[in-house]
Amino acid sequence: MGHEGDCFLVPGPVRMSQSCLDAMSAPTITARGGEFRDVMARLNSGLRYAFNLSLSSDKKKNQSWYGEDGYRVIIVSGSGTAAMEMVMANRFRPNDRVLVPTNGKFGERVAQMGSRFCNVKHLKYEWGRSFDFGEIEEQLARGNWEALAICHNETSSGITQDAVELAEMCQRHGVAFIIDGITSVGGIPVYPKDWNAEAVVVGAQKCTAGPSGIAAIAINQNFVNRCEAIRVQGDSNPTYYLDLLAALKKGDDDQTPWTPAINLAMGWVESLSNLSDEGLEQRWDRCKKMASGVRNLFCDLGFNLLADEYSRSNTVTAIMYPDGIDDTWRSKLKEDYQTQVIGAQDELKGKMFRIGSMGETSIEEMIEGCSRMLECFRDFNLEIPEIDVSKYFM
Ligand SMILES: Cc1ncc(COP(=O)(O)O)c(C=O)c1O
Repeated sequence: MGHEGDCFLVPGPVRMSQSCLDAMSAPTITARGGEFRDVMARLNSGLRYAFNLSLSSDKKKNQSWYGEDGYRVIIVSGSGTAAMEMVMANRFRPNDRVLVPTNGKFGERVAQMGSRFCNVKHLKYEWGRSFDFGEIEEQLARGNWEALAICHNETSSGITQDAVELAEMCQRHGVAFIIDGITSVGGIPVYPKDWNAEAVVVGAQKCTAGPSGIAAIAINQNFVNRCEAIRVQGDSNPTYYLDLLAALKKGDDDQTPWTPAINLAMGWVESLSNLSDEGLEQRWDRCKKMASGVRNLFCDLGFNLLADEYSRSNTVTAIMYPDGIDDTWRSKLKEDYQTQVIGAQDELKGKMFRIGSMGETSIEEMIEGCSRMLECFRDFNLEIPEIDVSKYFM
């Protein structure tokens, strides 16, 4: 059956399921009672699944946040940026040297934010170009680095970094690997344990199709040890709300240090339950199928994609506008075709649009949305042949 109604093909926030919306409309419960601990246990357990960690009990008083792989999950009331700030502020001392290669806005944000808390060297590559691994290796080989921090899936430019290669480099050079996985966790393969990542961050509103304003971090024991050691040495960055040690104290009890985002947590539990019903690998596959359909369709029609061919993301595709088209196309698409995609940021504003293929978006919605995009381009006098869009998504 085809898709009817609006098409919402934005790389987050994505649409939430009815079960998530219903859960968020539950009457208020207290933050410290048993009912909320039930919610936290389910949330922790669902998050461990989404992070691709070893599984845990979803019952309170059972260390739902912890697993045999040694990773813990920490819930953060705030968007992905708050969770990333919690990582950078707690893990590093002001003098720690952290290498941050970037090829888009969110990587640049990691570098910019990191600079508030540690000594960042920013290797700034052009948006959409793959990292120069030779240069990163050479930098790391010079020694004295505390960590490599990256944005794994660069939503602004539609590129996914080769995390396996980077993880191996980190292990070779004995540095911590820190990952903004905000649009990768739950949408494309992430292996925190195999990659020996010290910290991975996810935002609810992206691949897990949860509500905006809540996020989580997966951290290993090295990360915890380091945060504790820095605090003991009296060398830490100032934190209060985002104090990781305060969160660690409450974790065993299925609690958070401050009043949590109770109803957002309730909604996220349902989104994560939808993810586990679908299956993590099945979700990765669906995102891949949608993104490769989008890539092949637009490339066949002669559009240019921003990201390097072999690094293109499966959760977001960045497509350059043909000559003579700008964001007025996007406005028309929204107004006349009830279809939303997102524009570009910074210097690429008005030159490019991005299609999200994450969360619970169905293949049918993607087919319908792409068909409407083509129709809308025809309204702008682009010569687009009549083609069977659905065949790109078989
Ligand atoms: C890869 C990536 N990192 C960080 C962010 C910022 O996250 P938030 O807006 O949840 O704070 C985004 C948001 O789009 C993102 O896509």
